[in-house]
Amino acid sequence: MGNSLFLFAFCLVFLVLGNSDSLSDQEKDKIEQLPGQPPGVDFAQYSGYVTVNQESGRALFYWLTESPANRDPESRPLLLWLNGGPGCSSVAYGAAEEIGPLHINSDGKTLFTNPYSWNKLANLLFLESPAGVGYSYSNTTSDLFTFGDAKTAEDSYAFLVNWFERFPQYKHRDFYIAGESYAGSHNNPLILNKGVKNPVINFKGFMVGNAVTDDYNDFVGTFEYWWTHGLISDSTFKSLQKTCEGSSSEHPPIECIRALSIAEREQGRIDPYSIYTKPCSYTSSLKRRGRYPWMRGAYDPCTENYANQYFNLPEVQNAFHANITKLSYPWQTCSDIVGGYWADSPLSMLPIYKELIAAGLRVWVFSGDTDSVVPLTATRYSIDALNLSTLVNWYPWYDNAKVAGWSQIYNGLTFVTVTGAGADFSQYSGYVTVNQESGRALFYWLTESPANRDPETRALLLWLNGGPSCSSVAYGAAEEIGPLHINSDGKTLFTNPYSWNKCM
Ligand SMILES: *[C@@H]1O[C@H](CO)[C@@H](O)[C@H](O)[C@H]1NC(C)=O
Ligand SMILES: *[C@@H]1O[C@H](CO)[C@@H](O)[C@H](O)[C@H]1NC(C)=O
Ligand SMILES: *[C@@H]1O[C@H](CO)[C@@H](O)[C@H](O)[C@H]1NC(C)=O
Repeated sequence: MGNSLFLFAFCLVFLVLGNSDSLSDQEKDKIEQLPGQPPGVDFAQYSGYVTVNQESGRALFYWLTESPANRDPESRPLLLWLNGGPGCSSVAYGAAEEIGPLHINSDGKTLFTNPYSWNKLANLLFLESPAGVGYSYSNTTSDLFTFGDAKTAEDSYAFLVNWFERFPQYKHRDFYIAGESYAGSHNNPLILNKGVKNPVINFKGFMVGNAVTDDYNDFVGTFEYWWTHGLISDSTFKSLQKTCEGSSSEHPPIECIRALSIAEREQGRIDPYSIYTKPCSYTSSLKRRGRYPWMRGAYDPCTENYANQYFNLPEVQNAFHANITKLSYPWQTCSDIVGGYWADSPLSMLPIYKELIAAGLRVWVFSGDTDSVVPLTATRYSIDALNLSTLVNWYPWYDNAKVAGWSQIYNGLTFVTVTGAGADFSQYSGYVTVNQESGRALFYWLTESPANRDPETRALLLWLNGGPSCSSVAYGAAEEIGPLHINSDGKTLFTNPYSWNKCM
């Protein structure tokens, strides 16, 4: 009796101390303001390091962007976002280019608000993993050459456990993991598999896009996609099947690498992540092709340059509480060392998917249908190999009365495709005389809605920039809401995925 009372008191003291400690650590991580941040940021942000291995001195960097204050962040789930590579930064891609609330302007110094940010629905946790990626580091440099799936998952799990100690308000909160490409399948299930058994982490499910799932089925489906879309020759199709199928996609044999480079040559200057979109420029589309180009995620290579500028600014690193140990190398979107020396990589994630489905987790798998890197067909073969029973068979889903993709609901997994991401719209520009006498003429640029979005029925929006005396072509069109933005080479354009011309 006395013993248990003592234990109770001890726990209470420990709890109180633990809490006040974690609170102060949490407060230390709070971001006051990021350099170049736009006005009206209505959500809390935190960032900093969590030590995952004392011995080697490994610490992982995270950036938490909560839901806006007027959207009840306390009641919303926590979503951990992981990017692929392996060796690519979730801060660079997931946060600053994809689902995060703050994206980087082309000046590489200022930020703008992403109107489609997922933080409207969930608190977003971006993790740079493993050590050596982005700001995450190890005091034992040799570590960077030793990562593979197992060690990365172990460190990521250690991160989560320690992070929940620093943010106790998130303990027991609904928790999801999402990501794409390599991280999509590999890191998630591995962390999940351990985390399912941790009562503090309330895993509810995961969501993956164009995910690397099962090497055999991924190869079969990828080559079939290339051939049926006319991207490769009959003979290359046959030699890919012969030399690659059955081998590891992260470490393929030399004959397979040879066949893959012939396939790449035959495909020519396409954007492999979106085969019907013009690549933004030849050099940058080449640049993002890593050692194993088909393993990389779906990224916009043009905006990488802005991230490279922004995250290397000393005042930005200060605001993020990052690079506190003065690392000897710059921040990069992907670590060639970590990616290039990637060790273990299981051939298949299917057994782990099975386990997670059996544990009752919600699983969402989605595929853009113009990606040739991890194509729809690869994912379909992989899902098929899970032998799940079907609840709702293949059916179209609609956006604005147009088919936007197809879906199938399996017992334990939902598969969704998103069709035709390419932007195809009409443009007009010229002068309209506004004063004959003095000969004053104003210049306009009209960018209509894409052809597949019914431009005839959509509203007309006149956009004006401020100053006074600033150009709406320069700001509104080419930097802000317009469909075409300018690359840092000053010569080529890229498609703005968040262009308002989708709606008007
Ligand atoms: C790495 O080394 C620096 C300098 O000694 C130290 O300040 C830091 O805490 C170490 N990091 C970790 C994660 O142990
Ligand atoms: C860290 O800071 C040093 C200068 O203090 C800089 O040279 C280096 O590029 C930075 N590295 C990263 C990863 O931020
Ligand atoms: C699916 O069924 C096939 C044939 O019955 C079997 O060989 C395979 O191992 C099953 N796959 C899984 C992931 O259980």
